[in-house]
Amino acid sequence: MTSMKRTKIKEILQQDKVDYAVNVKGWVRSFRNNQFIALNDGSCIANLQIVIDLDTDEALLKRITTGASVSVDGQVIASQGKGQNVEIKASQLEILGDCDPNEFPLQSKNRPSLEYLREIAHLRFRTNTFGAVFRVRHSLAFAVHKFFNDRGFVYMHTPIITASDAEGAGEMFHVSTLPPGNPPRLEDGSIDYAEDFFGRCTNLTVSGQLEAELAAMAFSEVYTFGPTFRAENSNTPRHLAEFWMIEPEVAFNDIYDNMDLAEDFIRYVIDFVLKNNSEDLDFLAQRLAEEEKQKPMAERGEMGLKEKLEFVIQNKFERITYTEAINILLESPVYKKKKFQYDVKWGIDLQSEHERYLVEKHFKKPVIVTGYPKDIKAFYMRLNDDGKTVAAMDILAPGIGEIVGGSQREERLDNLMARMKEMNIPADEMFWYLDTRRFGTVPHAGFGLGFERMVLFVTGMTNIRDVIPFPRTPKNAEF
Ligand code: 4AD
Ligand code: MG
Repeated sequence: MTSMKRTKIKEILQQDKVDYAVNVKGWVRSFRNNQFIALNDGSCIANLQIVIDLDTDEALLKRITTGASVSVDGQVIASQGKGQNVEIKASQLEILGDCDPNEFPLQSKNRPSLEYLREIAHLRFRTNTFGAVFRVRHSLAFAVHKFFNDRGFVYMHTPIITASDAEGAGEMFHVSTLPPGNPPRLEDGSIDYAEDFFGRCTNLTVSGQLEAELAAMAFSEVYTFGPTFRAENSNTPRHLAEFWMIEPEVAFNDIYDNMDLAEDFIRYVIDFVLKNNSEDLDFLAQRLAEEEKQKPMAERGEMGLKEKLEFVIQNKFERITYTEAINILLESPVYKKKKFQYDVKWGIDLQSEHERYLVEKHFKKPVIVTGYPKDIKAFYMRLNDDGKTVAAMDILAPGIGEIVGGSQREERLDNLMARMKEMNIPADEMFWYLDTRRFGTVPHAGFGLGFERMVLFVTGMTNIRDVIPFPRTPKNAEF
């Protein structure tokens, strides 16, 4: 057992210092020539080279296998080899946990596919790709809090279990402790939720927005950052059943302030990661470049990962109305050659293929679309003077499609009540929401950013299952 305190590998590699003693602990990534260990402790993407004495005990050498955990005491010295400035000359090596090379699936020689790694998601953190992805994810989360904190927003923890359907889309997971096979029933045969744990029918939340609005009516600016759940049966590379959402809500903001806030926010978190995760991004950029090479020319991205991120920071997003978007689509060669799968006409919900055309082919930059038809949007969005459209805004990002959905809220009680009636939303159950419009209502606006879609964008990964540690998708809740 070592008596020394552990030093993180990142710290050793960052300092340009040699000739001092350290203890390091980590997992063996590779062991070559019975002499060189590449050790990783997750603090950074780079491995630390450990040089072992050639006369080390044979039995011990056998136990230094890929995946084994070790503790090493030694001297930091200038490296003789290429690829690193410093290395450790080991004076003492202890195996903390053996790892059978015949069973451990992550051998250093072969690069496993992302699909295979999803099946062993409990081990995939130990690869370079997932190390980089989850360090970037962490930085993004930290940057989210820093952005809002620096601007005086109050972080609100909105409930996970709720009785309301914020988006009115009905795609909710029920939360119940009633016996599923034999629930108590009312005379008409329906389930008697009065007997249930909360004395009513409850669900996992699809959004923290409605509660965030309540808090914004006191703190002026608040945000939520929590898990949200959607039981939509969308098996796509962009949908999760459990995902994290960031939802700022700001009193006195209109739709234009809302757009400005969203742009500033997205630029800030990207800039933060460029500054703080440079090595991880270099690795991910390289990975993406290799992946792109496998694709046919026409489908390849025009920019490298870092270039793309710099571009987003430096250029204003395009702002268009829904009506303009429809006209662009109708004028497009793709539409004229009948190459869109879904029809285009005023009133449709934009499909992923339409969003991607606008962003990737037409504007070649992020686009904010405003003024959607009221019939395809949620009840709480503010009705525009035309009586047909609402003050909604979706931000569409290259390679992703919708990354943000938001709106100015309907602050006028009469309008809101009329809209709820039209959409069959029970006003009595939502008395608390309507009270905000009764007691000192103000114009206000907010949006929701899908955190995993942001992580996808920044890491250049292409499947949302690869940017959340343990994805929840239809027919899959392993780990
Ligand atoms: O557009 P959405 O449904 O908006 C809301 O929930 C509003 N209450 C937000 C607000 O105004 N406060 O969802 C917001 C974002 C989407 O733009 C998308 O990025 C992400 O959440 N999102 C998903 N991400 C992963 N998997 C899913 N199934 C998602 N559904 C939405
Ligand atoms: Mg949306």
